[in-house]
Amino acid sequence: MKLWGGRFETGPSEVFERFSGSLDFDRRLLDADIRGSQAFARALERAGILTAQELGQIVSAFDAIRAEAAQPGFFENATDEDVHTLVIRKLKERAGPVADKIHTGRSRNEQVSLDTRLWLREECDRLRGLLAALMGALLDLAEKYPDAVIPGYTHLRRAQAVLWPHYLLAYFEMFARDAQRFGEVKCHADQLPLGSGALAGSGFPFDREAIAQDLGFASVTRNSMDVSGDRDFALDFLYASSVTMIHLSRLAEDWILYSSEEFGWLDLSDGVTSGSSLMPQKKNPDSLELIRGKSGRVVGCLVSLLVTIKGLPMTYNRDLQEDKVPLFDAADQTAGSLEMARVVVESVKLLPARPEAAVKESWVVATDLAEALARNGTPFHEAHQIVGRFVLQSIQQDKKPSAWTAAQMHAFAPEFTQDVAELLDPKRGLESRAVPGGTAPAAVREALRNARRTLARISQ
Ligand code: ARG
Repeated sequence: MKLWGGRFETGPSEVFERFSGSLDFDRRLLDADIRGSQAFARALERAGILTAQELGQIVSAFDAIRAEAAQPGFFENATDEDVHTLVIRKLKERAGPVADKIHTGRSRNEQVSLDTRLWLREECDRLRGLLAALMGALLDLAEKYPDAVIPGYTHLRRAQAVLWPHYLLAYFEMFARDAQRFGEVKCHADQLPLGSGALAGSGFPFDREAIAQDLGFASVTRNSMDVSGDRDFALDFLYASSVTMIHLSRLAEDWILYSSEEFGWLDLSDGVTSGSSLMPQKKNPDSLELIRGKSGRVVGCLVSLLVTIKGLPMTYNRDLQEDKVPLFDAADQTAGSLEMARVVVESVKLLPARPEAAVKESWVVATDLAEALARNGTPFHEAHQIVGRFVLQSIQQDKKPSAWTAAQMHAFAPEFTQDVAELLDPKRGLESRAVPGGTAPAAVREALRNARRTLARISQ
């Protein structure tokens, strides 16, 4: 069945039909299409186009189609152009001639926008739920090792000591922003496009506000031409997914390194690692590598739709049908990666002695020393120079921080008083970073409490 044809002398070629069909992928919008069509049928009744009895017939036929679609084999042998055509064909089969009225004053251009918005609103909620679960796992892991100290890196060189929970909270913040972003994406999609017609607005006096209320939309779109070619809401979703994936990818990269023999801080569970077909000793971090790999795929989805839309003349063009493959793929890959990351986080073990040793054998305390000198009155630039020379001499003499006594330090520079020498213990330096958002134990405890509150808000 086609929703058009009167103007054509011959049907489409078999090649064109195969080439242009989208049922293979847009079948995923079936439930949204039925919900939207039921609401539209109610609007037709309000506008006097359907009788109450016809409406009842149509709504229950749609319910029956929804139930039928849950059975296996529903889509087998279907040759409809797209999901919208399939749903109307099924309606005709069930409800008879009254089905011919369902498309009164409606275009597939607005219908596909409606279906995608309905689907996307729910997908935002699903991803927010998965983000919240991952964030909860990060907080549990932070609380398992509240006092563990690790070197924080810049340029992948040991920089300053930080608490392990402080490091995990950094990712928590990224995922909290992602959850917020998906909330905003949902708001952008939360406008009813129905009533726009093909591009110029419907020729029937629909009460658009009433349809919006029926479908739970916050408002109605304001320009029919805009609706026809607008996929900003899909781009917003793809951007939010891409940023989430990039955060996941950075976490994956960290943990691939931290669980390597060279670092040896993290023990990934057997359940999220794979062996080698040749090398019997191997335990590879494939789950994390795949998260990192899929992040490229999701960024590709964003780029793909950006390039599809760039340069499209107003208003609808069939190119827009190509939005769904990247949209669905990005949603699924992001959901899968969030779930995988949660399982990795839930099952990982920190081996705290290793990062602590890395802290102690390096010069991550150098900034603490320089800042202590500055607090005691030495101008910071001078303090920086003194500590720099002190570190240089230590490296030349292969002397670790713990090998220095307070007296030797004082001999090196009179500014190194007893209180400064105590900062050779990295845990003492941590305590000075007590600003909100800093890594001092008290600040981190407070941050963990705040994070629990943030998580409760997101999970509502
Ligand atoms: N399958 C089409 C899509 O996804 C539905 C809209 C068709 N509109 C049209 N003018 N051919 O974009």
